[in-house]
Amino acid sequence: MGSEPTSELAAAPRSPARIRRIALVGIDGAGKTTQAHLLAEGMTAAGLPARYWRNAGGRRWLDRLAVRLGRPDARRLIGRSGLMLFEAMLRWLAIARANVGSSGAIAVMDRYAVCQYVSLRSHGAGGWERIARLAYRVFPRPDVTFLLWLPPAEARRRIEARGTDHESLEHLVRSATAYWSLPESTEFVVIDARGDSAQVAGLIRQQLADRLPGGVSVTGPPA
Ligand SMILES: Nc1ncnc2c1ncn2[C@@H]1O[C@H](COP(=O)(O)OP(=O)(O)O)[C@@H](O)[C@H]1O
Ligand SMILES: [Mg+2]
Repeated sequence: MGSEPTSELAAAPRSPARIRRIALVGIDGAGKTTQAHLLAEGMTAAGLPARYWRNAGGRRWLDRLAVRLGRPDARRLIGRSGLMLFEAMLRWLAIARANVGSSGAIAVMDRYAVCQYVSLRSHGAGGWERIARLAYRVFPRPDVTFLLWLPPAEARRRIEARGTDHESLEHLVRSATAYWSLPESTEFVVIDARGDSAQVAGLIRQQLADRLPGGVSVTGPPA
């Protein structure tokens, strides 16, 4: 799997000047982390220095801490508002670091600002979105945002197989709905994430070639 993206990218004309940020967004379990790593590694190996950034909100970490402290989850530890504030602040810091720290390399963002708006909407805290948008609007828009689309039931199966956390089907459905409801959704480049990792990576490379004519032109057969 590792060598295939490299060889396709290596065949591409090298004009990286126009691409600074690529964001991968989508519901938990859709494959963002897997694909963001593959993309950053593949581009770097092809001579287009790219760096992976994990723009996490810390929810999983806080869930684990809550369990250690005898609570069922983070929400029961610090309350819904506390959790929303914690997550929004942590993700803001992560995205800020990613934007200042890439130093010339293409930043491959595993989650971005829109993920925070989705989190607020899907947890019934949409009233905070206006404030979150004020705080997050300092961040430049990605040159392209890939929405990895996977049916929530399949995402849940992958999360269970991953074995690091749990997510209810209901929440995954709310999260998927929230992505489509965002004003930014018209700009998302939707990637069918149902195939295996190599197939999904192929679709992403294909879309990079199609959508960014002045940037990286990724050629080669689709996976
Ligand atoms: N295309 C795929 N097909 C099957 N399993 C996958 C695929 N992509 C990722 N996975 C696995 O599914 C789980 C969720 O993927 P991950 O990249 O962590 O998703 P996300 O970051 O969106 O939550 C991981 O265990 C990962 O190894
Ligand atoms: Mg992830």
